[in-house]
Amino acid sequence: MKALITGASGFIGSHLAQRLIDMGYEVHCLRREASDVRWLKGLNVNFVYGDCRDRASLEGRVRGYDYVFHLAGLIKANDEADFYTVNEKGTQNLIEAVDRNNHDIKRFVYLSSLSAYGPASGVEDLPSEDDRPHPVSHYGRSKLKGEEVVINYSSRIPVSILRPSVVYGPRDRQFCLFFRLINKGVVPYWGKGHTSLVYIDDMIDAIVLSVIKDEAIGKVYFISDGMVYSNDRIIEEIEEALGRRAIRLRLPRMLLRLIGIFGDRIGKITGKTSMINRDKIREIMYNDWVCDITRARRELGYNPKVGIREGMRWTADWYRIHGWI
Ligand SMILES: NC(=O)c1ccc[n+]([C@@H]2O[C@H](COP(=O)([O-])OP(=O)(O)OC[C@H]3O[C@@H](n4cnc5c(N)ncnc54)[C@H](OP(=O)(O)O)[C@@H]3O)[C@@H](O)[C@H]2O)c1
Repeated sequence: MKALITGASGFIGSHLAQRLIDMGYEVHCLRREASDVRWLKGLNVNFVYGDCRDRASLEGRVRGYDYVFHLAGLIKANDEADFYTVNEKGTQNLIEAVDRNNHDIKRFVYLSSLSAYGPASGVEDLPSEDDRPHPVSHYGRSKLKGEEVVINYSSRIPVSILRPSVVYGPRDRQFCLFFRLINKGVVPYWGKGHTSLVYIDDMIDAIVLSVIKDEAIGKVYFISDGMVYSNDRIIEEIEEALGRRAIRLRLPRMLLRLIGIFGDRIGKITGKTSMINRDKIREIMYNDWVCDITRARRELGYNPKVGIREGMRWTADWYRIHGWI
């Protein structure tokens, strides 16, 4: 089986590349000239050069694959337009190229996000895939637009869409920020809320299952570890994993907005994108980012195995070993 992965230099993509190689796939990775491919070094992968924003760079490079895993995406940006350029238009460019050049494709998987659905209105009745999306950030809206692009091709290409909750584990830079802060003894706290999480190995299970199961064609699936965690519990588990206790630095939501504006300014000045920016704060303003994975369990046979206790411990160990904390 021959697979193309976009976003293979990133956190989730690099783990997917490793898994597909272990499963005996011939793995090709779309990368840009400037991509940092450190996680792919030593793996038996072939590189294909292209940028999702550049239609011409994809033309002719998507031929002959049984599976295309579209993971390339922008998760933070200094300019909101960039989210749409990569997550919506980039997806359009890629699937258009697949449609023109690859008539025998068995599956096109699009990695969307819980952000494309939006926040939940509590944790009693968890959102399911049949509920109407209402994203609250530009990131979320751009991922939903990406979904719409993919669905538009579903009569010509067998597609599947996954909407992961927060993914954590080795190589993840987003969660690492919290580990670092807690390790230093202080953690920002903006009030009660709930989050669905998924450990990277379970996330990769879900991606692989989505191409194995025919039932997944044309469908959207929420992916988490099946639990709902309070934000307090998540902090406690990271503390436990690090063997540290951190002071909760209570931040009023008004202040969060200012921090977001500050993050944007710093990003524009330095040219780097800050983890904390206005778009991220738009999401943090909502308490509950949770989902129901009944459909993935039933139709994909998805059975997450890693709970928060071991997941956070393994992640902390990896961060320590690699000097990230
Ligand atoms: N991490 C999470 O918690 C999470 C949760 C839900 C959904 N997701 C989705 O999962 C996907 C992967 O996320 P991640 O956490 O692995 O992100 P990541 O580590 O930031 O990786 C993003 C990947 O996308 C590639 N990319 C960005 N712009 C591109 C472009 N114009 N053309 C080609 N490749 C491009 C990057 O390549 P370069 O190395 O060249 O920059 C990188 O390989 C994203 O689509 C994201 O929306 C992530």
